Amino acid sequence: MKEFLQIGVVGTGAIGRTHIERINQTLQGAKVVACADANIDFCKSIAQKYNLKAFATGEEMITANEIDAVVVTTLDPFHEEYVMAAIKAGKFVFCEKPLAPEAKACKRIVDAEIAGGKQLVQVGFMRRYDPGYGQLKKLITSGKYGATLMLHCAHRNPTAPGFTTDMPVENSMIHEIDVLRWLIGENYASAEVVFPKTTKFADGDLKDPQIMYLTTESGIRIDVESFVNCQYGYDIKCEVVCEKGVLNLPEPANAMVRSDAARITPICKD
Ligand SMILES: NC(=O)c1ccc[n+]([C@@H]2O[C@H](COP(=O)([O-])OP(=O)(O)OC[C@H]3O[C@@H](n4cnc5c(N)ncnc54)[C@H](O)[C@@H]3O)[C@@H](O)[C@H]2O)c1
Repeated sequence: MKEFLQIGVVGTGAIGRTHIERINQTLQGAKVVACADANIDFCKSIAQKYNLKAFATGEEMITANEIDAVVVTTLDPFHEEYVMAAIKAGKFVFCEKPLAPEAKACKRIVDAEIAGGKQLVQVGFMRRYDPGYGQLKKLITSGKYGATLMLHCAHRNPTAPGFTTDMPVENSMIHEIDVLRWLIGENYASAEVVFPKTTKFADGDLKDPQIMYLTTESGIRIDVESFVNCQYGYDIKCEVVCEKGVLNLPEPANAMVRSDAARITPICKD
């Protein structure tokens, strides 16, 4: 029996490297031993830095005997081909969100996994594991505050180079689509996206900000603001309005500084 699970990462960009570091420095029972990336020279430099084997292609890495499980951290449109390759090889695969940018691609993956007869795929929706959302869920399910009526949410990033108008839903608010359904324990009945006045900081034709309205089966109304060029920082808000109270997602624990006639609490950049 192997001492640890041998993992291959395809996509050695920002989040790919975060996964490599977390798995190899924090997790027990697993090690990233290989990587692949469309940018081969870059992949080789990452392989050297973390002492991994660089494969010429993601497919070669996924089918290699020494690889037990796969992490997919390429750009969104390329998740499907690698997740499908992992399912075909019968290997467990963790895929960063979104599973794929289009619903029909996600359905192809789900169908392939079901046809294979084994649950192999996990998607990187991490907010369900965030202690703040966990606290909100406990408060909601306690029943103490009555029924949930409305949610007001915001998802802001300082800048988003290369974003197109479909990406705030597919890449950013996909987190809210996932976590809010889990939070309130209800499916959505309808969805709509509206476009307020666009910021001058939006790239090209990007419409930014956007507001997504979701209505659940029992009529809970949710608004989510996505503002991916807000300039000031990475800022996530979630306010749950109930019959007998209003519940707010906690702010990240950053120390407040009093200086220069101001009270300042730093906001994360990413
Ligand atoms: N869960 C989260 O909160 C979270 C946070 C950040 C990013 N992500 C997701 O992670 C993924 C990667 O994001 P990132 O910020 O690391 O992007 P990035 O641009 O830093 O890295 C993407 C990497 O994928 C490689 N790549 C592109 N096409 C490829 C292909 N066809 N085959 C192999 N490699 C290919 C690129 O060369 C690059 O190295 C995205 O899907 C993003 O949505 C999730």
